[in-house]
Amino acid sequence: MVSYKDLGLVNTKEMFAKAVKGGYAVPAYNFNNMEQLQAIIMACVETKSPVILQVSKGARDYANINLLRNMARGATEYAHELGYDIPIVLHLDHGDSFETCKDCIDNGFSSVMIDGSHLPYDENVALTKKVVEYAHKYDVTVEGELGVLAGIEDDVVAEKSHYTQPSEVIDFVSKTGVDSLAISIGTSHGANKFTPEQCTRNSDGILIPPPLRFDILEEIEKKLPGFPIVLHGSSSVPQEYVKMINEHGGKLKDSVGIPEEQLRKASKSAVCKINIDSDGRLAMTGTIRRVLDEKPADFDPRKYLGPAREALKQMYMHKNRDVLGSAGQA
Ligand code: G3H
Ligand code: 13P
Ligand code: ZN
Repeated sequence: MVSYKDLGLVNTKEMFAKAVKGGYAVPAYNFNNMEQLQAIIMACVETKSPVILQVSKGARDYANINLLRNMARGATEYAHELGYDIPIVLHLDHGDSFETCKDCIDNGFSSVMIDGSHLPYDENVALTKKVVEYAHKYDVTVEGELGVLAGIEDDVVAEKSHYTQPSEVIDFVSKTGVDSLAISIGTSHGANKFTPEQCTRNSDGILIPPPLRFDILEEIEKKLPGFPIVLHGSSSVPQEYVKMINEHGGKLKDSVGIPEEQLRKASKSAVCKINIDSDGRLAMTGTIRRVLDEKPADFDPRKYLGPAREALKQMYMHKNRDVLGSAGQA
């Protein structure tokens, strides 16, 4: 058993209490490799932002849990070396079973998500409660989910979203004992969050997605005053990177995300954790494609991974400062 406390990590408790009070959201950035992690830490130290390092089941399979745990420990030491000790959480994203969550808790994660959102309500309650009971023994915090997001959640693909029903949230939170709740109000996973048919087009032909259901969020806030709410699927899909990818041999079509103004508005509410993965993938892939295209004789990975890391860092700093409002809060 490895405790996150020995790795210099924290759970989400105090982090979320501060975020709800302060009207900002903590960034939850996914990582699978060193350059992504370096960019996240550099950006969050430079903007003095708390951060949640998110590991999906796919990332665990890709990178190995021992390596990931030690990378997170390294991240706390790296932040210290950069000159500012920001609070860092190591979080399992979309845990799919009790066993996966237990394995992460036993391996030094300070927070886990158990995603029972695809299950019938009572099964979601029972599974989430079981994870909470185990996690809380070790002071690990737990995120549950009610409502289904469209898009890809690891191996689970939901064709259609189902908004969270505000009538269920009090019962779910009190029966399970979760520390935070992910809700579905119109966000979705991936770089194609909406079909062109669901959007309108502006005069430049850019797709404008339908607005998030802030009415549902408000109802949930009324039912659970001050309770930490989480938004998944919150990439804004920067069009500059979609363009960069397509100009350098890529083939992305109709990619559209959540407008930043809406994420800024959500951050000021009870939403205290905002999940961003796809934007990092776009920035990294766009930059790597551009460098390889422009400098075909380069074959040292640092020559393209270095610029990709810098692009990621700039993007995360922008999110912390201008979108989530987490800059200066660490
Ligand atoms: O919510 C899903 C995340 O974007 C993780 O994706 O399973 O491909 O690592 P992944
Ligand atoms: P995006 O695909 O919008 O980045 O969402 C990521 C996410 O919700 C991870 O859990
Ligand atoms: Zn998610």
